[in-house]
Amino acid sequence: MSDKDYSQYFQSTYDPDKKKIRPKSAEDVGYSQKEGKQRGKEEVMVVNFDPIPDELKGLGKDKTYCLVTFGCQMNEHDSETIAGILENMGYTSTTNEKEADIVLYNTCAVRENAEDKVFGHIGALKAVKQERPDMILGVCGCMSQDESVVNRILTKHQHVDLIFGTHNIHRLPILLRDAYYSKEMVVEVWAKEGDIIENMPKVREGGLKAWVNIMYGCDKFCTYCIVPYTRGKERSRMPEDVIAEVRDLARQGYKEITLLGQNVNAYGKDLEGREYLFGDLMDDMSKIDVPRIRFTTSHPRDFDDHLIEVLAKGGNLVEHIHLPSQSGNTEILKKMSRKYSREQYLELVAKIRKAIPNAVLTTDIIVGFPGETEEQFQDTLSLVEEVRYDSAYTFIYSPRHGTPAADMEDNISEEVKKERLQRLMSVVNRIAREKNEALRGEVVELLVEGESKNNPDVLSGRTRGNKLVHFVGPKDCIGKFVHVKITEPQTWALKGELTTRVEV
Ligand code: 5AD
Ligand code: SF4
Repeated sequence: MSDKDYSQYFQSTYDPDKKKIRPKSAEDVGYSQKEGKQRGKEEVMVVNFDPIPDELKGLGKDKTYCLVTFGCQMNEHDSETIAGILENMGYTSTTNEKEADIVLYNTCAVRENAEDKVFGHIGALKAVKQERPDMILGVCGCMSQDESVVNRILTKHQHVDLIFGTHNIHRLPILLRDAYYSKEMVVEVWAKEGDIIENMPKVREGGLKAWVNIMYGCDKFCTYCIVPYTRGKERSRMPEDVIAEVRDLARQGYKEITLLGQNVNAYGKDLEGREYLFGDLMDDMSKIDVPRIRFTTSHPRDFDDHLIEVLAKGGNLVEHIHLPSQSGNTEILKKMSRKYSREQYLELVAKIRKAIPNAVLTTDIIVGFPGETEEQFQDTLSLVEEVRYDSAYTFIYSPRHGTPAADMEDNISEEVKKERLQRLMSVVNRIAREKNEALRGEVVELLVEGESKNNPDVLSGRTRGNKLVHFVGPKDCIGKFVHVKITEPQTWALKGELTTRVEV
């Protein structure tokens, strides 16, 4: 990393009173969210994570950290990296926010209610911080990339010690050192994405399932979405780096890998001088000796024929496709800037179903987008009836500061939005139940993840289509593949009986 000059950080003196100079706004630290929107032609470099210097490695000796993660799998995976860095510095993990030496909130900005939750946590920690001023309270993740959030924290939540964003996680050792010793509050948010940093340490949980990033950022700019501003431009990891990581995880005994990206279908489009796209990557994944490969999340627009052809071969590529539709009405899709019509979406679904007849299709849907009429909403209901999704994440539209949709006229009342969400959920749930009912009597393959949440005598696992199944069986099935006959389908999960174990 070019900015590696640790010496300056050691010169700063420790301030026992913690009376720190505080920037008053995001502007004071040179951060502007608008810049995050710009898509430059600068080349993205791939650099290796620098080993944490010994001086910083000792910082966490006999200290604990509590990392609380909000939002999507991308954030969960970033938290694995943050945990990896902290544990390399000597910190040990705790779930106790009140007693930890460092509390870090890895935040989500996709909807307002996610932000409210974070501010609730920050507020609740004020009293703890007063009692234990030496603890460090940090906020990172997507909310930190939102200028208005940074300003709100700086003016109203002065007990926060550290704010950093999604592009500079690798600088955490230095930022923490600063938070302890420097006279200034530490606010470091990069408006623009930097390099791709390879080989960051990670703490992966469980040893069974692992996430692997294949790309960062999003260039789609759907008009409601904050992600292109918080996560920067699309940047693909080199195929050989992804393949090496997946091979390594397979060697370590991981049974299921989920490839992650905001829009995985755009993978490879930014790799100059290479004709290597997501279909090619999945083809290479199918040759790796790991039982299951998944991916999330995809955009219908970039879902090409080659990818469908590769997925249709099956094998370790599981037949679950999460294909966010967002709306079933072409007019609304246009206002969302989704770049496909209802008909094009349905054509894609038909193509997928033809090539992969047992495909499990799931989706994301937003109701109450600005100006959505009752008729337009009914098109969403009819799309759900037509596609017959196995399940769907459904959301009420939430205006996001700085996005185009936030400036569109919105004349739909909160009540109507809530009522539409209820109507949508009841259609989604009825179809989910009917889909599960169709599995009654079928024998399915499960990767057994552990005891069920509510009953330690019952084990839980997931099918290739990612359906949750509960069954009674010996504990040594955990971590293994088994066959289970479905006896009791429900809406959210299914119950079954163990038939055979499969050795993989
Ligand atoms: N309001 C509501 N839902 C949103 N999503 C993204 N932005 C918003 C917003 N402003 C939903 C989309 C996306 C999912 C991850 O979150 O459905 O696919
Ligand atoms: Fe947001 Fe659209 Fe990008 Fe998904 S594809 S992250 S919804 S802008």
